Amino acid sequence: MADLLNHKKILIIIGGGIAAYKCLDLIRRLKERGANVQAILTKGGAEFITPLSISSLSENKVYQDLFSLTDEAEMGHIRLSRENDLILVAPATADLMAKMAMGIADNLATTTLLAANKPVMIAPTMNSQMWANPATQQNLKTLQQRNILVIPPADGDLACGEVGTGRLADVDDIISNLEDFFLSQLQNNPLKNKKITVTAGPTLEAIDPVRYIANHSSGKQGYAIAQALRERGAIVTLISGPTHLPTPHGVMRITVKSAQEMLKATEKTLPADGVICVAAVTDWKIENPSTQKIKKQKGSLPQLKLSENPDILKTISTHKKYRPALVVGFAAETDHLIEYAQNKLTKKGCDWIIANDISGDIMGGDENQVHLVTKEGVEHWPLQSKLDVARQLTKQIEEYFK
Ligand code: C5P
Repeated sequence: MADLLNHKKILIIIGGGIAAYKCLDLIRRLKERGANVQAILTKGGAEFITPLSISSLSENKVYQDLFSLTDEAEMGHIRLSRENDLILVAPATADLMAKMAMGIADNLATTTLLAANKPVMIAPTMNSQMWANPATQQNLKTLQQRNILVIPPADGDLACGEVGTGRLADVDDIISNLEDFFLSQLQNNPLKNKKITVTAGPTLEAIDPVRYIANHSSGKQGYAIAQALRERGAIVTLISGPTHLPTPHGVMRITVKSAQEMLKATEKTLPADGVICVAAVTDWKIENPSTQKIKKQKGSLPQLKLSENPDILKTISTHKKYRPALVVGFAAETDHLIEYAQNKLTKKGCDWIIANDISGDIMGGDENQVHLVTKEGVEHWPLQSKLDVARQLTKQIEEYFK
């Protein structure tokens, strides 16, 4: 699924350290997240990993030699910095850091760094004495003063057999630094740091400890909305009924079962700037669920007494103390779609209703066709992937918060 790193163009400069092998995992993970990765492999880096393994994972050419005729015909060192959003030096050796600090340009990597007009991030790794050496510490300071971003090395066993500070940061750590960087780029985005709660998935209403009533909601649309909001910098809490979906990156997920639990968890996130109720809340619950498994008895069927579930959307929309600035509901209908959605808007007291026709294979499918119903009118959106619906809705929410 797409996320903060989706479509981001990252140039990795791979220095000569034993930890260069971690770059392969890093590149694989970045590709999975939708990033476009190019790599410069230094001479030292090539002692540890091969250009073939890098290009297989990055699905891009690997650049190695400053004086390669084809690369230089395209002014490789200039172009590489211009066409990427960020340059990441990993591993950044003591030697590379020193060259960067001095402005030495004696190979493709250092020349590209000197010619760079894009943000640069380094992930240093070296022996702990080399790291602690005043020369390295001075270089580090110089680089930081020039706004080079630093992912500090970790403590632990070093490849040289010593123990101390100097291990390349974990791939997870490098990725979260990259996410933070791209998040910080969204400075002027109206959704940045807006607190938004999304409900998603079905709710399960217990009959007894083993049985329940529920519905076919997959949670896909709600998860896609949580993801799209996060991509644009919102602080997203996803209150989800049981689903098989992975939690979108950077989203805080709270898993619940029943509608009652979902209401409680949603109310706990207030005050919030927005609440988007996508969950297919089961309309009824069993009035008195049995605490023991109901036994099958010949000739007698269990009588289930139903009662109405709390309406989360309505509760939030009419909240006396913490009514969010924007409350959005969904209306899944098989007929009279727009008419029912307009009624729902009034009945529930929310600001927008996303009406979707569920007569086809919408529940559980990957596509959705929806209509945005507001007090001002109705917008018909095309049939598109649930992620694109989520992105279009997110754009609309951005406009609202501008
Ligand atoms: O009333 P109906 O189920 O058609 O309304 C759908 C909208 O209301 C959805 O946004 C759904 O998440 C929300 N809802 C709710 N709590 C309920 C029932 C529906 O939040 N008990």
